[in-house]
Amino acid sequence: MRLTLKIWRQENASAQGALQTYDLDGISADMSFLEMLDVLNEKLQGEGQEPVAFDHDCREGICGTCSLMINGEAHGPEVTTTCQLHMRSFNDGDTITIEPWRADAFPVVRDLIVDRSAFDRIIQSGGFISANTGSAPEANSVPAPRDKAMRAFNVATCIGCGACVAACPNGSASLFMGATSASSPRVSPSATRAWSTWSPSTTTRASVAAPTSASAPAPAPRRSRST
Ligand code: SF4
Ligand code: FES
Repeated sequence: MRLTLKIWRQENASAQGALQTYDLDGISADMSFLEMLDVLNEKLQGEGQEPVAFDHDCREGICGTCSLMINGEAHGPEVTTTCQLHMRSFNDGDTITIEPWRADAFPVVRDLIVDRSAFDRIIQSGGFISANTGSAPEANSVPAPRDKAMRAFNVATCIGCGACVAACPNGSASLFMGATSASSPRVSPSATRAWSTWSPSTTTRASVAAPTSASAPAPAPRRSRST
């Protein structure tokens, strides 16, 4: 596959960012999206250029760090994480715009990396509990019926990726809060208060729209609806 990539480059948190255009050839449809970026970075380093900084850890859809806005969609066109997105979801000759999360709660650190410590502060404000749970119970003796257990699991699968904040026009963390508070004792009322300081009434969020030219300025904060 041959691709044209428009990638947000920003040297540091205070620098002005811009979309830079790169042509990339020889991409296999079986590569993951992050492997495609690895190929780009090898090419850039071979040419003496700075590689594109992006976040990842597990590359297995578990850790939630691979946060990218791809063609204006959080994690791209499939319902999965960026690391589980494969290039077969794109076509030869495509132009792909790749940006960091666009939310004031997640300031850009460098290129495609954002600071998501706002999530950490919500979690930390809930403290932690220590509970002796003993050994794993025998599966057939678990009192919760399977359908209820599966429903509970659905709300426990938040990996803290931040896509819900990036995709919400208000930059709201309500999906994250719902998932963490519904499934875990770790988020206490004090965490809810911490979240309330980050509600739509106080959040300013950068524009969702992707800048369309290489000279596009950093997006301006958006006014909240309530002001
Ligand atoms: S609730 Fe939000 S932070 Fe959690 S996995 Fe879903 S999109 Fe990611
Ligand atoms: S790198 Fe861990 S979920 Fe994508």
